[in-house]
Amino acid sequence: MKNLLFFSHNKKKVLEVEKILRRKDIKIHNLNSYHEIKEPIENGKSFAENAKIKSSCGLKEFNIPSFADDSGICIEALENKPGIKSKRFLETFGNIQNAFEHIISKVVNNKNDKAYFKTSICLSIKKNHHIIFEGKINGRISTKPRGLNGFGYDPIFIPEGYKKTFAEMNQKEKNKISHRLVALKKWSLFCSINLKGITFTYLKNSKLSLYKIFLEIKISIDPIKYKTFAICKFIKIF
Ligand code: IMP
Repeated sequence: MKNLLFFSHNKKKVLEVEKILRRKDIKIHNLNSYHEIKEPIENGKSFAENAKIKSSCGLKEFNIPSFADDSGICIEALENKPGIKSKRFLETFGNIQNAFEHIISKVVNNKNDKAYFKTSICLSIKKNHHIIFEGKINGRISTKPRGLNGFGYDPIFIPEGYKKTFAEMNQKEKNKISHRLVALKKWSLFCSINLKGITFTYLKNSKLSLYKIFLEIKISIDPIKYKTFAICKFIKIF
């Protein structure tokens, strides 16, 4: 049995992770039994850096491979902001409706409604051995907030190819296509391959810590055959 730590107190996220990686050979621990552990300050410059700050903290505190995620929305009319500051951006408006009004007015004035959600998951295997898995979903900003489900920016985000906002979808519908799902699937695939014994030897080569090598597992889901194809490409950040 492999022990992994998901460095998060967020019960919704913990459930999502457990649903995707249902394996008898992995025990996923989380921070809900460790209330005394505080999440570190996320002062990275990207989603990947913030995820790495959290997963490294997990590795240091518990001494087992740890992973963490960081996500947000990037809106073209706002110069791809709020990005890594998505949570704080909503808080600064005090009221979510005011934040939506601000975003929609920028989108309308700039005649550009393009936006995307992004998630980065960092898996810290040991010191200087970190792997990033990324998920992205393109879409557009709705001219009116719609729907009551979900959280955060869901009422104003319409994923590409859909008419409904994320908040008008039920959780199952959203989770099938979400940025988090894409990143989690890549991560889950990596764990499966690794646990089957195909180890990535260069992850163990300390000389490589001098280079930024990014691993990306690209998964495309064939909607007709429901087949998942995976192409692996590695990235290691230091
Ligand atoms: P976190 O890093 O996943 O906690 O996300 C940071 C912030 O990004 C959240 O507080 C939300 O405001 C926003 N966000 C991230 N993912 C989503 C999503 O799936 N829907 C709506 N908002 C999201």
